[in-house]
Amino acid sequence: MKVLVINGPNLNFLGIREKNIYGTQDYDSLVQMIHRKAKADGHMVTCYQSNHEGDIIDRIQQAYYDGTQGIIINPGAFTHYSYAIRDALASVEIPKIELHISDVNTREPFRQISVVADVCQDRIIGKGLNGYLIAMDRLEKLVQG
Ligand code: DQA
Repeated sequence: MKVLVINGPNLNFLGIREKNIYGTQDYDSLVQMIHRKAKADGHMVTCYQSNHEGDIIDRIQQAYYDGTQGIIINPGAFTHYSYAIRDALASVEIPKIELHISDVNTREPFRQISVVADVCQDRIIGKGLNGYLIAMDRLEKLVQG
């Protein structure tokens, strides 16, 4: 399976930002964790992080051309208001999983709104970085149909 993992704004600051919420592991160790699992399971994975809305949209559109079979996306704060990222996700007809490290449903009211949820096939929240590994297993099932 060819997978694209997208992390949005401030997720490059894992291990630095709000450690009580997002933990102490940094972004590089998340990427290593994902690559280890992909290797063990025989998947090809690309991890992409950007703090910029348009760059994330460009990367989602690129997935249409490059044979990506499934997307795991943590859009960060864009989750709560970016209709442009929502539209980009809706444009690519492959399985997509929305992911959040923290349990957004128990945080501030603005975090309880997701404008991308209904264009994704699954949603994983509040499982910490392990959520990305759970997402890879769930994505495999979705891709296999
Ligand atoms: C987040 C939750 C968002 O509300 C926040 O803006 C983030 C991270 C999470 O992974 O829990 O940047 O998506």
